[in-house]
Amino acid sequence: MITRREYLKRSSLAACGLALARTLPAEPGNSHIEGRDSLKARAHNRGLLAGCAVNAANLREDAFTKVLAAQYNLVVAENAMKFGPLRPTPDTFNFADADALVAFAQHHKMKIRGHNFVWHEQLPAWFAGTATKENAKKILTDHIHTVAGRYKGKIHSWDVVNEAINISDGRPDSLRKSSWLELIGPEYLELAYRTARQADPKAKLTYNEYGIEDQSESDSAKRAATLALLKRLKAANVPLDALGIQSHIKAGALQTFGNGLRELIAGAQSLGLEVYFTELDVNDDAIPDSAPAARDRIVADVYHDYLAIAFESTATKAVLTWGLTDAHTWLNGIKSHREKLPNRPQRPLPFDADYKPTPAFFAMRDAFDKAPHR
Ligand code: G3I
Repeated sequence: MITRREYLKRSSLAACGLALARTLPAEPGNSHIEGRDSLKARAHNRGLLAGCAVNAANLREDAFTKVLAAQYNLVVAENAMKFGPLRPTPDTFNFADADALVAFAQHHKMKIRGHNFVWHEQLPAWFAGTATKENAKKILTDHIHTVAGRYKGKIHSWDVVNEAINISDGRPDSLRKSSWLELIGPEYLELAYRTARQADPKAKLTYNEYGIEDQSESDSAKRAATLALLKRLKAANVPLDALGIQSHIKAGALQTFGNGLRELIAGAQSLGLEVYFTELDVNDDAIPDSAPAARDRIVADVYHDYLAIAFESTATKAVLTWGLTDAHTWLNGIKSHREKLPNRPQRPLPFDADYKPTPAFFAMRDAFDKAPHR
């Protein structure tokens, strides 16, 4: 765990563009990274899965698919399996991109995460004018039956409900005031999970959330609300198998990780849940301007220290980064980045824009090597 004193020391060093020389092998002598030196091999040695999010369009790029197949044994569609991209109209489904990812993964014997059935974002344009209190339950169950049914038996785990907690909405149950809540009520969660279990009994049904990782007051409050939701669902015998901790975290910001994350993992485990780190990336915007190599080292330190905590518990079964290469990261598209650092592309992932392994790659691999067996 990074102490606050250590963190401030690193931040001050980062401020003058120096990254602490760490014992961490940023680019160890053995820079061979394939076969038994790949992320997936090192993860497998510890009973873990190593994955990343995939944009189907990139499956047409040889450089991308070469690294994807060599390094990962788990994939998730960044967008292709979401309600909006799948549903151009109320009566049609567009499965082309999702099918392409499933086919690629099956060909390369990779496991597949499904993401996601129920979310307040990326609903199709027709949804607002079509969904009513009378038909919303049927829209939801028809969607899940069709999509989960299409990939029945092929999916390792589904993010059935994504980001249902929003404390600032002020509800006693901390649920987000989403369209699904307004139209169906809190029981939308139970309906979604029971429908998903019926449609694909083999898939591990996951609740996926962000902003629950660090030691801040806001993350601590959201962590407590998330665990309370999971407890309510389990107490109602809702079929729920795993917690997804998204892990969109930051370098160079005063974000520290420690017992809060440990307690979250332990809380999930006490409910009989597995834990997946589902969308890991390390935003480097808060690192003061410095050479890419210096920023890469600070990002790698965050990967190393965060994953060391994540892997302490044998409840943790998988980690996926939200993308494979910096060239495709969603982080370059977010408003704060575009406004603040439009000419400083983010470097949040294990492979840079030229598909070269970054220090974060070696930090991740080192964290796998140090993880207890599960
Ligand atoms: O495909 C359309 C394209 O046809 C159109 O021309 C273009 C311009 O409008 O938009 C394209 O869709 C974009 C889509 O990504 C595919 O690139 C959407 O506008 C854009 O909003 C969407 O962003 C995705 C975002 O979720 C949606 O909220 C990001 O790629 C994706 O990385 C991000 O992922 C989420 C997870 O699902 C849940 N956790 C948070 C994470 C980051 O926000």
